[in-house]
Amino acid sequence: MPLDIIIGAQWGDEGKGRLTDLLAENAHIVARYSGGDNAGHTVTVSAPDGREQIFKLHLLPSGLVQPNTIGVLGNGMVINPARLLAEMERLAALGLDVSPARLKISAAAHLITPAHIALDQADESKRSEAGEKIGTTGRGIGPAYTDKTARRGLRAETFLDPERLGDQMADHIQTANAVLEKIYHQPPLDPITVAAEYTDYARRLAPYITDTALYLHHKLKAKATVLAEGAQGALLDVDHGTYPFVTSSSPTTGGVFTGLGVAPQFVDRVIGVTKVFQTRVGEGPFPTEAFGAEAERLRGTGQNPWDEFGTTTGRPRRCGWLDLVLLRYAVRINGLTELALTKMDILSGLDTVRLCVAYRTADGQTYEELPLGPADLSPFQPIYEELPGWAEDVRAARSLADLPSAARQYIRRIEDLTGLPVSLISVGPERKQMVWAE
Ligand code: IMP
Repeated sequence: MPLDIIIGAQWGDEGKGRLTDLLAENAHIVARYSGGDNAGHTVTVSAPDGREQIFKLHLLPSGLVQPNTIGVLGNGMVINPARLLAEMERLAALGLDVSPARLKISAAAHLITPAHIALDQADESKRSEAGEKIGTTGRGIGPAYTDKTARRGLRAETFLDPERLGDQMADHIQTANAVLEKIYHQPPLDPITVAAEYTDYARRLAPYITDTALYLHHKLKAKATVLAEGAQGALLDVDHGTYPFVTSSSPTTGGVFTGLGVAPQFVDRVIGVTKVFQTRVGEGPFPTEAFGAEAERLRGTGQNPWDEFGTTTGRPRRCGWLDLVLLRYAVRINGLTELALTKMDILSGLDTVRLCVAYRTADGQTYEELPLGPADLSPFQPIYEELPGWAEDVRAARSLADLPSAARQYIRRIEDLTGLPVSLISVGPERKQMVWAE
């Protein structure tokens, strides 16, 4: 069965791009099914001339940097065409083919406009005044999905019909202006300027627009391997995440089927990617959050590209210990079949490492499962299991046998507590710094 799914099992930023890039070597197609340029995937790009570069992708599937794959932007995505074209240009400058033969955009994907971005930012400042900020990336994601579900969004297919695009854009900007001016007291946007800008994007992107669900169906029937690339993470899912501190899409496995229009019988592996610790950007409760020197040790200084600072926003990420209550939840709602652990090397040098195995509430009750889902995590205190740390540098390890026994014990404990095998462990930022545990 040829559909493999990569899911972020935490609050995003688990290192999914890295995994996708690796697995894309043996895939025909890599398809993104949700989110937009709120995602940030760091991958190492090998240009056809052999040069390697660290590259940050926000919209294009990370797998596209493998020269033989085809990239799909599915109908579940919200696409900022300006950002997409800029990313395409940067890849093309490295000599990678980003022609319509290699990149397909769903006609049913929704477009992000400057009005969505203005609304997102205005809404965040208003919430901030009331002390109720979500901490969004400010990229217009929420308002674009709001328009989609309110049945007034602009779909990529309008790029195929410039006249309709002009009319729809004028209506859209006028509606958004009313809200911007009356509710948020912000300046209006000029519909003519935005329509002209989008007419230019339409001209450039029209050749890429197609029925990607049909395309994927034919390919899956013909036994092509398709990698569904998640963005964000299970705990940011609009239904299953830490609502309201979530994104506006479905990064969980269910989102693959609606966001690509493919059927579940094609699925083979569902790989959950999790760091060996926990991070979160934006607001919301975080039971295993560490503070002070402990958090700084996990976060890094910001001098290395792999330190815990947002790829999209540059914000320092909140850091803490791996939370198995939340990870087991992610295993269950996504139907994960295996785990990929990332950033194992960061734990080297700690005297002890901690795993949160259950929660305790103020009345002394303990919980191994969330009684009401993850929306309100504020009543819970973590119950930790402490394991011995390891001093050894693990960056050269390529098999389980190369890891110190304390590190192996830590991995085994994660397997025990989730009931899943760990198949891959990243031990450094470079492509080859990976332990294949199978
Ligand atoms: P939005 O997706 O920009 O609306 O942001 C909603 C929430 O999701 C905020 O807490 C963001 O920080 C978070 N978020 C969105 N995308 C990502 C991501 O790729 N990694 C981590 N957090 C994200």
